[in-house]
Amino acid sequence: MNGFNLSRSIRTRQLLQVRRMRKITEFEPRIIAFTCNWCAYSAADIAGISRFHYPANVRNIKVMCTGMIDPGYILRAFERGADGVLVAGCEIGDCHYISGNIKAKERVERLKKLLHILGLEDERLRLEWIDAGDGRKFADTIENMAGKLKKLGPSPFKKEVKS
Ligand code: FES
Repeated sequence: MNGFNLSRSIRTRQLLQVRRMRKITEFEPRIIAFTCNWCAYSAADIAGISRFHYPANVRNIKVMCTGMIDPGYILRAFERGADGVLVAGCEIGDCHYISGNIKAKERVERLKKLLHILGLEDERLRLEWIDAGDGRKFADTIENMAGKLKKLGPSPFKKEVKS
């Protein structure tokens, strides 16, 4: 015999499969949410005060307007381990700086194309307009986004940066 133990090899493979499955089911996506001070940030507050359920793995970064979000901030968020990024601002027509949200929309659309080339799925970057009082929409958006990211698994960008 060459010392090869078939049953031991099968057990090892089964253990590795179980570990991989556990990793997949335990995966909690990390979401960075850039939220406008005048609307979505307040909505996030209301969602918290109202105790609306949504995944806890969200970091809110308050900005004065979505128009000030440099695409580099979003890329940096992915580079630093985000599985998804949400940009949430005022409805079109309600921006306190007139056209900041329109600029944000254009930037996000352009950035999505770039992320696609880099191998990131579309669902990882999301843009939403959320009114200041709409805590329910904020919670639902995060919940929905986390569900989609869970299916996608960890960001491939994160893996490449770490290796
Ligand atoms: S002030 Fe909210 S998006 Fe411009």
